[in-house]
Amino acid sequence: MTLKKINPTTTNSWEKLNSHFDEIKNKKIVDLIDKRANGNNFNLNWKGFHVDISKNIIDNTTLNLLFELAKECDLKDAITKQFSGNLINETENRAVLHTAVRAKKDCKIEVDSINIVPGLNKTKTRIKDFTNDILSGKLRGSTNKVFTDVVNIGIGGSDLGPVMVVEALKYYSSNLNSHFVSNVDGDHVLEVIKNLNPETTLFIVVSKTFTTQETLSNANTIKNWLIKKLNKSSVSQHFAAVSTNQNAIHDFGINPDYVFPMNDWVGGRFSLWSAVGLSISLSVGYNNFEALLDGANEMDDHFKSSEFDSNIPVILGLLSIWYNNFFKAETEAVIPYTQYLNRLPAYLQQAIMESNGKSVDRSGKPVCYQTGNIIWGDTGTNSQHAFFQLIHQGTKLIPCDFIGFKFPLHKENKQHHKLMSNFFAQTEALMLGKSESLVDKELKNSKMTQKQINFLKPFKVFKGNKPTNTILIDKLTPKNLGALISMYEHKIFVQGIIWNIFSYDQWGVELGKQLASKVLDEINQNKVSKHDRSTTSLLKKYLSD
Ligand code: F6P
Repeated sequence: MTLKKINPTTTNSWEKLNSHFDEIKNKKIVDLIDKRANGNNFNLNWKGFHVDISKNIIDNTTLNLLFELAKECDLKDAITKQFSGNLINETENRAVLHTAVRAKKDCKIEVDSINIVPGLNKTKTRIKDFTNDILSGKLRGSTNKVFTDVVNIGIGGSDLGPVMVVEALKYYSSNLNSHFVSNVDGDHVLEVIKNLNPETTLFIVVSKTFTTQETLSNANTIKNWLIKKLNKSSVSQHFAAVSTNQNAIHDFGINPDYVFPMNDWVGGRFSLWSAVGLSISLSVGYNNFEALLDGANEMDDHFKSSEFDSNIPVILGLLSIWYNNFFKAETEAVIPYTQYLNRLPAYLQQAIMESNGKSVDRSGKPVCYQTGNIIWGDTGTNSQHAFFQLIHQGTKLIPCDFIGFKFPLHKENKQHHKLMSNFFAQTEALMLGKSESLVDKELKNSKMTQKQINFLKPFKVFKGNKPTNTILIDKLTPKNLGALISMYEHKIFVQGIIWNIFSYDQWGVELGKQLASKVLDEINQNKVSKHDRSTTSLLKKYLSD
């Protein structure tokens, strides 16, 4: 069964939200907080997560109307269909089952009437054994040396998820050094391998399709480098691969014992839980990898079974729709207050923008409303010293997710309170702003003349009323990280359902790929064929001596 096709703007709740928006849009968040004594919960507690949504331009009516919208768009039905393996990725005729990869070992999930869980368990056992054998030195390189380095070769979902998690869980890392090669830029791959010892390095080629230009080019460059440094037969002991395309892997010459399968019902950007996460498992050990999966699975259960008014991904998804479609906010920032999560914004850019960057609805008609948000961000406090100026005093409304941790990882960390004081202070400052009267009072306490005060005053005023969500998590453990990523995955799903779009295809990335291959032929033959005038002149410039 496929997803229902409901245009959200035709629902009663959408109309009510429009009128409600006019009533609430200029209200102050601080005043709204004071009036929220009864009604919905603006502080959601779930396991190690405390999610405070109170610093938003919302009241009980807003939340109730958003829940009504979710009901009218039949979000419940969509959730059931996703988790039970219905073909909800209609344009590719596939189920969407990244949740199955992290499901409990004894559950039953069917695709084409076949229980897929035993097969997934088998792959997990293989990942575990391979990880343990590499880390213990049982599996070695072709010259019998223990592996010291592992290089993940992939791009998009075959890179961003693994690299983000490996960075995030660096504290838990094993004795292997991890590296990532993604860009087709030859300088990238050559820079990464330049100081590596071929005898002690394992390469994992990760590509769902095994046809991606970037990945295959990098894999071939590295294979040639390895053969030159060692010999042809060493390839079978230094290369592993993860893909759905077993034939192509075979043609590349990878040892079948080092090949890990993927399934087409796991989308690339949702695949870090599968064998695509092999580099994660090698980097932090299998037990930590499994804990990551468990955390994600616990969030899946929360998403599946909680009522909308206590459901974290549902509420975050609906709030994002509130700002995107009613306040017309174009972007959202994600600001993690831990250096370990420095790759989270980049990872979320693919997950969110490749999923919901669509302008045709599920009936194939152009949408008449805004969809996919633009996601950006960086770690706090670095971003405070970079782009926060614009969030505080710019002309654009930018809702932000602040992600912080109650406890640091290093015992000897004496700076955590400093970090977290910034975390709390920024959301407070964004909400409260600084009034003209306060600025005036402060300036009067200085030795400035009235003329100077009058000049400076407007520049020092902060309008405030900038919405934020505060996601306060106990500690950055593999389990909590799994739950956090899963939370965002479900937020994406919620938004895609309400916007009536297909979140699990990515046709928009194809055109550029096709044109690039045509242009490459022309460059190789030094012959520019028919293009628009701009492209023709650029190509000629590139090919000129
Ligand atoms: O170009 C987009 C994309 O198809 C992503 O969706 C995917 O994660 C990435 O390319 C890599 O694809 P593959 O894993 O097949 O190499």
